[in-house]
Order: sequence, then structure tokens, then C-alpha cells
Amino acid sequence: MRAAPLAGGTPGPDDLRPLLDTVLDALRSGAADRGGPLPAGGPGAVAHRVREALGEALPERGTGATEALAAVVRAVTAGAADPAHPLCAAHLHTPPLALAAAADLAASALNPSMDSWDQAPAASVLEELVTAALAAEAFPAAPRPDALVTTGGTESNQLALLLARERGGTVQPVVGANAHHSFRRAAWLLGLPEPVLVPAPNGTMDPAALEQALTELRGPLLVAATAGTTDAGLIDPLPEIAELCAAHGAELHVDAAYGGPLLLSERHRPLLAGLDRARTVTVDLHKLGWQPAAAGLLAVRDADDLAVLGHRADYLNADDDTEAGLPDLLGRSLRTTRRPDVLKTAVTLRALGRSGLGALVDACMALAGDLAELVEKSPGLELYAPPTLTTVLFRPYGASDEAVAAIRRTLLAEGRAVLGRAAADGRLWLKATLLNPHATPGDLAQILTLVEGGTDR
Ligand SMILES: Cc1ncc(COP(=O)(O)O)c(C=O)c1O
Repeated sequence: MRAAPLAGGTPGPDDLRPLLDTVLDALRSGAADRGGPLPAGGPGAVAHRVREALGEALPERGTGATEALAAVVRAVTAGAADPAHPLCAAHLHTPPLALAAAADLAASALNPSMDSWDQAPAASVLEELVTAALAAEAFPAAPRPDALVTTGGTESNQLALLLARERGGTVQPVVGANAHHSFRRAAWLLGLPEPVLVPAPNGTMDPAALEQALTELRGPLLVAATAGTTDAGLIDPLPEIAELCAAHGAELHVDAAYGGPLLLSERHRPLLAGLDRARTVTVDLHKLGWQPAAAGLLAVRDADDLAVLGHRADYLNADDDTEAGLPDLLGRSLRTTRRPDVLKTAVTLRALGRSGLGALVDACMALAGDLAELVEKSPGLELYAPPTLTTVLFRPYGASDEAVAAIRRTLLAEGRAVLGRAAADGRLWLKATLLNPHATPGDLAQILTLVEGGTDR
């Protein structure tokens, strides 16, 4: 038997092509097997089917590339919660663009590793160019903005706290009660005090409460505001928060993991006014950017802030190599081996341009408005609030929290819809996070029909 062929080099594409046909066939038949947004039957049934399809995870003798790809890809597809299905709308779980997935294949085939120039000569330049362009979107007036590529909002927020600690010593994080859970973990990991929680009674950070906290707290402070909350897609009052930070000598980080791509929409960009007053900004392109994970960024207003991440490892960036002109990449991440996640993003930005991506943002924003309107027109349903981003919270009138939770779980178990849940106003709500720009008014109506059907059971 011929040794397993490789993906790269001149022969790689010819070896890949028939395998890709197999993968694409398996994706198609797996989606048909599923027939909906997620597999029916709940965790036990799904686990059973995957075990059956997989058999032994490490057989003594392999089954060969075609059989293994066909069987495993089909089983995983049949059992997927597929964000490309318009009724899969629970989380910030994006349906990736076909072109981005295709570009990601090239990243896998070439396998550049971004920790040294001799593993990623062109990919490292691509990363430099793309991160510079995206950092300039976040900080248009800054002379030297920059951005690091991360695995997502969690890593970006953690890096933001690390950079703040390196600038200011033991910095006290100050976050809204609406902030992402990653700040608490990051503080724990970095040996920082637990974040002070500022009340967010209406889902956004209360500036009066922030002012009080900033007046009472001592020592270096990092305020983390959110532009696009996980639960409700709300945006903290960034201009007021930035003013308060300036007045009290606190630094500002904005977690725009969700809302950041609004920067690309001419229409909705004003919602992010004040963002550029932050020192660091988290943006995820695997949310409102339609990239396969991972596609995170941490933008910094001043590239000099990243100098503290510099690190020496002779096999990757020996002094004499750097002096001789080999770019030193190790300070661009805390990771060592690192996928060229920027490749798919570079292709997407070039293919769609700012206007093309902005149009996708606008489409999802419009869908959220449409869904909210449909909820308001449904006599049996209550809308939490008109959406700010693409998240719509709603619930059947008069339902208990237990009934709301049960509707969600029933739809999951039946494989009919993937809706999220969020607590707001002291009650539990169903959450639809609309990231699929191809969803239709009929899809939105179906979400509500399914929920209303669930209340009759
Ligand atoms: C506001 C916010 N920040 C950070 C994150 C974490 O992002 P990731 O899951 O990419 O680490 C999320 C995830 O949903 C989020 O909603």
C-alpha cells in the first residue's frame, strides 16, 4: 500500500481532490440524514449513533482514507448543530462562509506555523497586513495601532488583562455585571484580584455605578466595557464610560467580540462611538464575521503596548537571526505553534470588501428587527426589548421560567430548533441570535411557531 499521501507540495492537490469529493459528499448526505438544525433524540441518541458509526476509535488496521472520511464526516455532519440552518440560532455560533472554509483548507494543507518566519514566510506577512488593516478600523485616529490574532474573545480578554497588568502592576479589573465570564477566569489565571462587578440593571453597565466604583477604588484600574453582550446583544454606553475612565485615570478595554464587526457597516458603525477611546479592543470574526473558528483579534491602540510579549527561544528567534533580518514572530502570541487563522480572513476581506461584509452585518441586523416585530405581533409572546445587535429575547406571556427552559430543551431534543436562554429582568427568556444572513421571513416565523407550539404541549 502507498504511504498516506500528503496535503502539500505539488502532488498534494491531486491527492486531495478525490478526498475532498468524498468529504463534500459526506457533508451533503450527513446534512440530509439530519434533515434539520440539529439531530433529533437528545444526547443519548446522538452518542449512540456516533459510537455505532465510529466503532473502534483506534482500530489495529485502518479502513483507508475514503471509507474513514466518508463514515466519520457523515456521522459528525448528521449529528451537528449546524449554524447554516436558519433554525440554529442559539449562540454566537456563526455559519461560516463557503469561501472562508475553502481558504481554511489551504491553511491546513500548507500548515504554516506562525511562531517563526522559517515556518510561515508569506503567511506572517499576510498576518501583518491584515491585522494592521483591522486594527486601523478599530483605532482610525491612532498613529500606530496593531492587532494580535487570537483563538477568540476569551484569549483576547485575557491578553488585554495581561497587557494592563504589565503596564500598571496589579491592576484591578472593573467589569459590568453583564460582562463575559472570561474576565473572571483571566483575572484568576493572571493572579489579579477578582473583577469588581458594576451593576448593569438594564443589561448595560450603569455609568453612575461605575463612577461610584471608580471614586472608591484605589490603585491601577482596568475597566472592561462590552460592545455586544453575550445574553442580549447590548452595547454599554461607551462614550460615557470612556469619559469616566479618563476622569479617574482608569484604563479602558472594550470587549467587542460580538459587536466589533459593526465597524465594517457604514449604517451601524455609529453604535460603536467611543470604542476607539479604549486601549485595547476584543473583536471576533467567528461571530459576526462568518469565519470558521478560530478568528479572534485583540486590537491595541499603540503597537508599543505589545513589546512586553517579546520572548526569546533560540530555535525560533535567535538574536543573530533577528539581527540578520529574519522577522521575530514569537511576541505575536503566547502560543508557540499557531495556525495561520488569518488566511481565511484575508481571503474574506479581499473577496467581499468592507461593503460586502458590512452588507452581511446589515442583513443580520435587519433580520433581528424583523423577528422582534413578529414577536410583538404575536399575541402570545412577549419581547424583552427592541434588539440593539442581532439578539432577540422573547418568551411566552405568563410562562414560568421552568416552562421557558422546557420549551428550549424540547426543541433541542426533537431536533427542531436551537434556541438559547438568557436571564434578564429577573426572568428567563428564549434567545435567538441571528447570524445567518440568508434566513428568510418564513424562517423567523417558524421559530415563533415552534415556540408557540411548545407552549400548547
Ligand atoms: C462578549 C463576549 N466576549 C467574549 C466571548 C468569548 O469568545 P470566545 O468564545 O471566542 O472565546 C464571548 C463569547 O460568546 C462573548 O459573547
